Amino acid sequence: MSVAFTDQSLQRCNTLGLPARAQVAMLDDEADIPGLASLQDAPVFILGGGSNVVMQPQPRHRVLRVALQGIRVWQETADHWIIEAAAGESWHGFVTHCLDQGWAGLENLALIPGTVGAAPVQNIGAYGLELDQRLHSVVAWDLRQGRERTLPPADCGFAYRDSMFKRDGAGRWLIVRVRFALPKAWTPRLDYPDLRDHASLQGGTLTPRQVYEAVCDIRRRKLPDPAVLGNAGSFFKNPVIDAAQADALRQRFPDLRTYSQTDGRVKLAAGWLIEQAGWKGRRLGPVGMHERQALVLVNHGGAQAADVQALAQAVRQAVRDRFGVDLEQEPVVLD
Ligand code: EPU
Repeated sequence: MSVAFTDQSLQRCNTLGLPARAQVAMLDDEADIPGLASLQDAPVFILGGGSNVVMQPQPRHRVLRVALQGIRVWQETADHWIIEAAAGESWHGFVTHCLDQGWAGLENLALIPGTVGAAPVQNIGAYGLELDQRLHSVVAWDLRQGRERTLPPADCGFAYRDSMFKRDGAGRWLIVRVRFALPKAWTPRLDYPDLRDHASLQGGTLTPRQVYEAVCDIRRRKLPDPAVLGNAGSFFKNPVIDAAQADALRQRFPDLRTYSQTDGRVKLAAGWLIEQAGWKGRRLGPVGMHERQALVLVNHGGAQAADVQALAQAVRQAVRDRFGVDLEQEPVVLD
């Protein structure tokens, strides 16, 4: 078997629900990967769950959908389970499966939409945990060089919502399998205030399942379900600025939400900036910023990429005018 591209709609393959048609093929067998060298002839875009992408109506890229399946214990060490999952597995399904098997450690990342293979690309993070903190290695096919590589975290160029896979563009690295090192001696990660203060986690000995349920509960309250209201999660990154600029802003805005970074810089809450700039719950055409979390851009129905881009531009301008801070878009663009 080899992968074959055909003209297809991608509207159901992106959580914003934007209409798009492209040449699309499905990869569901690892044996087909060596034959993909020919993809270098035309630009290709590797698509996972479509939860972090803004699709143009007629992308010039051909789209390869990764549907590889499988989860197994790859190795057991004295302290860790090393669990390997194929790139096409649903991320939340994988987190839940691990918990069911007694392999804890990913529960803070429950309910994040998308696939296992996409998780390292933007180094997913939530509620005090980033993927790179649990990662053992990424098995990826370098489509440019035509060979498979096994990359430890240090070789993946991870940063906040960023990695080498993302920086190199969506056509270079085909992530095939991802391995996680899950500690046998589990301790809860409760650094994030929303989680620490959750009513269900007060007192007593906590279990991974309780943390998982609390994370799901917080997310369900705040974040719109893409199956109900199209969205791509946080539409902007939380901006990181230098300490002097943060001090100056704090003088003018005493309520400014800030998080100190290890390098002395300061991260701001983009949702707060957007709300203060007047965009929380506000619409522009068929799209708007969500009423419970201003950082999430939602499709109220019938939106196209141009509508998304127009709103993103208006929000960025409003935040720039009020705070002098530039917001960087988080989802990638399929053009
Ligand atoms: N805030 C507001 N108004 C808003 C939204 C937020 O004032 O409309 C304030 C909150 O009150 C809080 C602060 O901003 O003081 C931070 O808000 P929140 O805890 O909701 O987290 P966030 O910084 O907006 C980030 C991630 C989320 C992740 C949460 C929890 C980014 C870009 N986003 O959001 O990730 O779930 O933290 O860890 O880093 C995603 O990437 O799609 C995503 C949802």
